Amino acid sequence: MKTGWQLAVKLKLRLPAFKKIGSRPQPRLSLLRHAMNAIHPLAKETVRFLNSGQVITDLSTIVKELVENALDANASSIEVKLVDYGLSAITVKDNGSGIPESDRKQMAKRFCTSKLESFESLNSVLSYGFRGEALNSICAVSKETQIVTKTKEDAVAKLYELDVTGSIVSEKSNVGGIGTTVTAKKPFYNIPVRRQLAQKNAPQTASKIQDLLIAYGLVHPKVRFVLLHTQETVGNKKKPQNWIKPAVADQMEDVKVIFGKTLADMLDHVSIEEAYNTGDIDNPQEEAENLDDEAIRLDAVLPIKGSDPIIVCKGDHVYIYINSRPIQASKSDLKELLSLAE
Ligand SMILES: Nc1ncnc2c1ncn2[C@@H]1O[C@H](COP(=O)(O)OP(=O)(O)OP(=O)(O)O)[C@@H](O)[C@H]1O
Ligand SMILES: [Mg+2]
Repeated sequence: MKTGWQLAVKLKLRLPAFKKIGSRPQPRLSLLRHAMNAIHPLAKETVRFLNSGQVITDLSTIVKELVENALDANASSIEVKLVDYGLSAITVKDNGSGIPESDRKQMAKRFCTSKLESFESLNSVLSYGFRGEALNSICAVSKETQIVTKTKEDAVAKLYELDVTGSIVSEKSNVGGIGTTVTAKKPFYNIPVRRQLAQKNAPQTASKIQDLLIAYGLVHPKVRFVLLHTQETVGNKKKPQNWIKPAVADQMEDVKVIFGKTLADMLDHVSIEEAYNTGDIDNPQEEAENLDDEAIRLDAVLPIKGSDPIIVCKGDHVYIYINSRPIQASKSDLKELLSLAE
């Protein structure tokens, strides 16, 4: 990761090249003409395609969306396979509920979901997904998308091939147990800039994907996570290491299997639960009535007193979750959270 200092140095080095050019680059005439076009609605397909690029921004977001779908399907085992760092194919296999036959026509259609009924039900949604956009967006940016699925009601698994719009183009019986396997082949084949960026950042993205699985793994101890790398294209660099987190009893066991016993022995799990008031605090009667309505629970795995900072701070890993959802937080957010916990 680049530090601010490294970044500053990089910017400084670029300056002379910028000066050499002399005057500011002028926008090309064709761009100006575009800017002066009358306002018009974009074609439906263009809108869908642009939106997919917002949902699926890099290879790690494909993995994130598919892993979240697997967790929403109550899987206890999730295997991620990256072929050529995911540039040739990304496969996520789970042993969750599978997709019922009656849902399959809609499964990858835009804004089609089994997780949200109406805007009002947003408050009570417990699943990771609910927008009904992920599979559709993955189809839009992949050369080929395949889904194999089987529920406990099905005699055999079925393999579906989907086109860029998320429609099923073929269906056949397949071997496989209960669960779902999604494969996205050649992601970003149709967005050259994203594809080039994905190629350039392939090793970094592979470690980002491992971090992502660690983040979900830590909050789902009972789920087994596997990351497998295979290489198909000749000329690729050294293959990254595979990674496995078995299903374990609790979070502390998770820390042990992921980061090792030495670190786990220096950490402890704390849990605080506090009722908070949803009533009007200026109205004592309402305040009293609403107390205990809801409770906030804070679970934390923190260093114990006397732990070795060299071991505890190694790698600078901080994982924060809200409702089991990993979130990115800055150091200042973390300080604020800790002061709240104190
Ligand atoms: N691994 C899976 N196991 C079982 N059902 C799945 C799986 N993946 C997708 N589905 C079904 O397909 C639907 C569409 O999935 P998709 O990820 O596109 O949308 P979503 O999860 O509902 O919302 P979001 O776009 O926010 O992720 C889901 O609502 C779910 O019913
Ligand atoms: Mg989803």
